[in-house]
Parts: sequence; C-alpha cells; structure tokens
Amino acid sequence: MHLTKEEERILKGERGEGTQKALELLVAIGDAYDADRMIPISRAHAASSGQEGDLYFVELLAKGGARCRVPTSTNPVYDLKFFDNRFPVPKFEGGVARKVMEAYEKVGAILSWSCIPYMAENIPLYGETVAFSESSATPYVNSVIGAKTNREAAQSALAAGIIGKTPLYGLHIKENRKGTCLVKVEAKLRDEFDYTLLGYTVGKQVGYGIPVLTGISKQPTTEEFINFCAMSNVPGAISMFYMPGFTVEASTVKEAFQGDKPKDKFTVTDSDLKSVYKELQTTSGKIDFVMLGCPHYTLKQVEEAARLLKGKKLHKDVSFWICTSATTKVLAERGGFVDIIEKAGGHVVVDTCIDEPCWITYYGKVGMTDSPKCAYYRRFKEAVVSRLEDCVEAAVKGRWK
Ligand code: F3S
Repeated sequence: MHLTKEEERILKGERGEGTQKALELLVAIGDAYDADRMIPISRAHAASSGQEGDLYFVELLAKGGARCRVPTSTNPVYDLKFFDNRFPVPKFEGGVARKVMEAYEKVGAILSWSCIPYMAENIPLYGETVAFSESSATPYVNSVIGAKTNREAAQSALAAGIIGKTPLYGLHIKENRKGTCLVKVEAKLRDEFDYTLLGYTVGKQVGYGIPVLTGISKQPTTEEFINFCAMSNVPGAISMFYMPGFTVEASTVKEAFQGDKPKDKFTVTDSDLKSVYKELQTTSGKIDFVMLGCPHYTLKQVEEAARLLKGKKLHKDVSFWICTSATTKVLAERGGFVDIIEKAGGHVVVDTCIDEPCWITYYGKVGMTDSPKCAYYRRFKEAVVSRLEDCVEAAVKGRWK
C-alpha cells in the first residue's frame, strides 16, 4: 500500500501507540485486499459488544492514548445500572461490559449504544465515505442513504474512526457496487414483518452478494428498510442491495447491474414467505417472555407497541421487553408511550442488545419476538417469531396458539 508521509510517521508511533495500532490494523486489511492507498472517511460506527474480543482491542487503543478523529458511534451493550439492580449479571461478563463502555468513552466515541445510529446519532449523507459495521447499518447506509462503506468489523470501524481513514477497496470502488443477483418479488408486502420475511428469504438465497429487487410497487417505510437490511444478514451477508425507484444509487435495473447481466436470478412468492415464517417457529403454547427491538425499535415502533398495549395487562408469567436507543426513549417518554407500556407491565430499556449476558434470567426459556435475528442470537430454548401484534396478544394471554 502506498502510505503518505503522515501515515508513515503514525506507523512509527509519532502519535502514540494506540493510533499506531489502529493504523497497523487498517494497513493489514488494505494489504489483504490489495488496496493501493487509504482514503478519508467522515464518520464511523463501531458495532462493539460487551465481550472480550471488543475489550482487548478498544482497551489497547485507549491505553495507548488514541482518540477518534471523526464522529464514531457505538453499538448497544447494556444499561449497567438498570440490569445490575435487577438481574444477577455474571460478575465476569458484567465487568467486561463495564470496561468496554469505559474504554469507548476514553477514545472519545459517541456513546450512542444503538444499533440504528443512522436514524439519529450518526447520520451519513448521500455520497459520504464512511466505515460502518453492524448488520442493518452497512446495507442501510450503502443502499438507502447512498453513502459508501465496506462491511466493517467493530475493530476495523473503530480503527477507521481513530485514523479518519479506511483502505480503498471493496464497496468504495464503483465497479464493486454492481448488482450480482436479480430478485423478482411477487410476494405481497403488507407490513414491516413481511419485509422481515423478505430480508430473511433474500439473505438465505443470495448468501453473499448484491441483490437487485424488482416488483415492489410501494415505497418501503424506514422500518421496512431496517428490517430488510437486518434480516437479510441473519442467514446471509448482504452489505448492499438495490430496489430501483426506492433506493438512491441506481434508478433502473440496468444501472444497478452497471450494464452487465445478473449472475443469478430468482423469484420470491407469497409461499416462499410463508415457508420462511413456518421455519422460524420452533414451538407454540406457553411463552415466558417477549423481546422486541432487535434492531432497536424506532419511535414509530414504540408508539405502535403502546397503542396495542393501551388499557391491557400483560400476563403475570410473561416478561415483556422493548430495546431502543436513549434518544428514542426520551421522545417515547414525552409522547406518553413508555408510561402506557409500563402500566401494562412491560419495560422499555436503552443501550441494550439482546445478545448480552444481562438476559441470563431467560436462558433456556421460551421466547417470542418479531425478529429472526433476536431468535438466532438469543438462542432461545424455543422461539416463536411473529408480528408485533401477535407478540402483544400472546404476552397478554400468556401463550401463542
Ligand atoms: Fe441490535 Fe443486538 Fe439485535 S446489536 S440488531 S439488538 S443483536
């Protein structure tokens, strides 16, 4: 890789060991992908979690005096105060999570602790060059917003945020942004949950690639896009997609493929969505808890949950959780939605990912969620995955079907 004089000085340790380590990582990635140079970025999102791998790297940089050069937001870990006072978080894991959060503060990251930072705390513009990790964030930023990012890891995104640069390879190069697979959507998409099923179906079929979806007749909502992005990365690895007419970068199918022929094509029908829905259910009957907000719920989704719960009481044996960002919770409190949810017996919790040890109380229990990603990461003993309204209905009755 060609390095500038300044980059060479950083590699020699002129700006401290933390910054040196960050650049060493980026140069190693650049070499692995045959990048010829680094390019500036304007923001980053580090999909950290409260686990040991994250702790090792962020502490290494923090102890070496590194500081973020561009706005760098953080993924959820968990609300330490809330959970420490309620659930017995194992001492070791609790300590790791605390240290991860402290180290991100030391490097000057934005303490957003949200997996949808592109909604409020760290929003790229069209055409911006950024370094975003997190399964919904990478495709959302590339496809819906039209900024440019590779599929970063927490560590590479943090290193990019520290240096303010990323190696020039992958989705930063136009020809690598061309569609690989044509997907004809014949299925009727009625709501956010249908986009969840569509994302899961497309991710499963495509695996790794850039799908170009046709046949969608109505502008998807923000939440529908978020669900599509997140769920296509449960069985697959989709860093970018096109819905010509609704996503920004290519207005026609031809443009999305940059004049080439698709390498692959398939159709998604109502019966494909039905069979994915069926596949996601591993049980029915009594449930122990409902978990929503994976990815973090938007204000609109919290409001919808409150509307469905208004005047109802949740079953005494069912715990009901909504994960969201601190920003959203403030607005949801102002709107009276949190109050309604809490009066019904539910909780709205911030800064928290469903894949954290704070949920140890529910290990081995039967859970219901509207998110296949949640069911996958939480490794429920058994899981029901269905629409928000079904989750609310089951939480009131104490059982699903
Ligand atoms: Fe967000 Fe954690 Fe789910 S990062 S998308 S709540 S697995």
